[in-house]
Amino acid sequence: QARSHRFFPQFPIQGFLSIQIIQHRSIPMSLPSHVRLVEVGPRDGLQNEAQPISVADKVRLVDALTAAGVSYIEVGSFVSPKWVPQMAGSAEVFAQIQRKPGVTYAALAPNLRGFEDAVAAGVKEVAVFAAASEAFSQRNINCSISESLARFVPIMEAAKQHGVSVRGYVSCVLGCPYEGNVAPEQVALVARELYAMGCYEVSLGDTIGTGTAGATRKLIEVVAADVPREKLAGHFHDTYGQAMANIYASLLEGVSVFDSSIAGLGGCPYAKGASGNVATEDVVYLLNGLGIDSGIDLEALIVAGQHISTVLGRASGSRVARARSAQ
Ligand code: HMG
Ligand code: MG
Repeated sequence: QARSHRFFPQFPIQGFLSIQIIQHRSIPMSLPSHVRLVEVGPRDGLQNEAQPISVADKVRLVDALTAAGVSYIEVGSFVSPKWVPQMAGSAEVFAQIQRKPGVTYAALAPNLRGFEDAVAAGVKEVAVFAAASEAFSQRNINCSISESLARFVPIMEAAKQHGVSVRGYVSCVLGCPYEGNVAPEQVALVARELYAMGCYEVSLGDTIGTGTAGATRKLIEVVAADVPREKLAGHFHDTYGQAMANIYASLLEGVSVFDSSIAGLGGCPYAKGASGNVATEDVVYLLNGLGIDSGIDLEALIVAGQHISTVLGRASGSRVARARSAQ
């Protein structure tokens, strides 16, 4: 028997069809015409490398990314060198890169000390990082979630004084290496705090890459009740090969900023077994295929990825780059 649909009462529809529409009521977002990619390879990518990588090689990588048209590059971290030795030379890297106007060169800062070191190195944008899981927060930054949020308050105040923008991360949004499942509501709580304290954007980190497209859509729906979708970014590690699907799911949910890593570099030193972020080359290939502009030249990006892969002495983690080199 025909009846009116709950959301579209002007359309009388049959029972089966109405159930389909109700289940997929979050779909109608159209895809964006432009996506901003946040290149995290020099930071999230290289932070996990045990072998020494020279400042010159890091600078060459950042400059190659700039030349490829990347508009946002996370260059390094101002964290304790005892915790993440590979990021110890970040100030030198910042001193030597060729900055192009309009490009953001950002750094991680876990506390006021890190923020001050970043500003002294000429950094104009920092990222603070919290977690949705207590155990990960303790392992990664040696404090509870609420202690970390309290630590960020003076950073926000100092950032305002220095005209520095602050981006926020939430880790373990789709699973924790120590606690397992993480409720989307818990992620929303942390994301809301970061947004409320002045982070202009909150990047949702699937640190261990266990998330699926369905879980990603659910996560964004829940978090978007507290932080607008246009203020959210997706940060997908590709450990389970789900990152591309999760990006597409996020696009359908109205998210248009994604973090990615050249050549798929990386992992987090405090998330054992976590692999690199989704490869930037692969995301640009996906976006090109969807007719979505990212401002990035795929060919130049592939060259940048091949160069750093040679420095590291291994094959690129980008499927696109590997396919191209096999041709
Ligand atoms: P702590 O040991 O609790 O800190 O570490 P503390 O305040 O007791 O200080 C201990 C020592 O560190 C002291 O030196 C401080 O001076 C020094 P000592 O007296 O022993 O010689 N120190 C610093 N040195 C340099 N820069 C600083 C700094 N702060 C203190 N900023 C701390 C706490 C937060 C410092 C430490 O846990 C840390 O550095 N953690 C960083 C961990 C990290 O970088 N993880 C990777 C990035 S997060 C990530 O990858 C996830 C993400 O990609 C999203 C996702 O995928 O989910 C963002
Ligand atoms: Mg990460």
